[in-house]
Amino acid sequence: MVLGLRRTGKSSIVKVIMNENRENALWLYLDLRKFETREYLTYKDIVIELEKAFNSLPKWVKDFIKGLRGISVSGVEVRFNWSGEEKIELSQLFDRLSELGERNGKKVIIVFDESQELRKLKGYNILNPIAYSFDNLKFLRFIFTGSQIGMVYRFLKLKDPESPLFGRAMTEVVINPFDREKSIEFLRRGFEENNISVKDEILEEVYENVGGIPGWLTYYGFNFITERDHKKALKKTIEMGVSSIKEEFDNFLIGREGGKERYYEIMKVCKKGCRWRDVKTAIEVAEGRKVDDKRVTELIENLVDASFLKKTDDIYEPTDPLIAQVF
Ligand SMILES: Nc1ncnc2c1ncn2[C@@H]1O[C@H](COP(=O)(O)OP(=O)(O)O)[C@@H](O)[C@H]1O
Ligand SMILES: [Mg+2]
Repeated sequence: MVLGLRRTGKSSIVKVIMNENRENALWLYLDLRKFETREYLTYKDIVIELEKAFNSLPKWVKDFIKGLRGISVSGVEVRFNWSGEEKIELSQLFDRLSELGERNGKKVIIVFDESQELRKLKGYNILNPIAYSFDNLKFLRFIFTGSQIGMVYRFLKLKDPESPLFGRAMTEVVINPFDREKSIEFLRRGFEENNISVKDEILEEVYENVGGIPGWLTYYGFNFITERDHKKALKKTIEMGVSSIKEEFDNFLIGREGGKERYYEIMKVCKKGCRWRDVKTAIEVAEGRKVDDKRVTELIENLVDASFLKKTDDIYEPTDPLIAQVF
């Protein structure tokens, strides 16, 4: 598991690891971000993503899976069937991939980037073939990344005795934003590479406004280099940040439309830190009626699991200073 807020560098890290291990592993990289705006996914969506990833592998790999049910190979293109009698069975595909790895002395690694999207899969439980692989297939490995950290746990259900992956051990890699010192050092080194020297106060101001997320720091650096003006660069970075976060919040609300007003209310109340009680009071004042305690807790938990809020002791606050600016 590679977990961290959006733009902390998860995909970048995984891609570096992929590049450095081209020789000793076969990689299937599935970018699930494209499903953020979808309310649900189907088996077909996953099969198509796997097919796409599979087609980026060398020809000898494609030849090896010929003959497996649900797979047709024409020339260099592989087609996976997702329905009917002849549909592909993921546990069989995984079996064959592991065998391929074993014969060639390579690990086969499937990356589900932004894996919390798989929670939306309807009519098919992908945890079954994953658990099967986990228990039986030595040469197959999975990497799950996620920006909505709590939602990745909700998807994998490692602590649910009823779930296929119950009790399985995973290695967690948590990518945290840079702290103040590292952020400033990161910007300074970036500017040095471009032969630009910038005063510490300016770098401090960047950190105060955008926080330590590498994606925003990099974007600020890029803006500075193109604009050659700190204020303009900062303004542009904040604008971009605010509009991206708005979009991500809208995606979060897909399928949760009924709670929209309440979620906005909570984010407003918590933008500088709040307690559970403040949230309950604010919602009740806004609606002029009592609200169930359980419902309040559930709404807050959804925001925490989607990584918009974090809890430290009794205080809930935005995970990133730019989030506060949106509300
Ligand atoms: N270690 C790093 N050094 C420089 N830039 C980085 C680093 N990690 C991430 N970035 C920049 O931050 C942006 C966001 O990174 P990304 O890997 O897409 O994050 P995530 O997958 O966690 O959302 C990238 O476009 C990249 O330019
Ligand atoms: Mg990513």
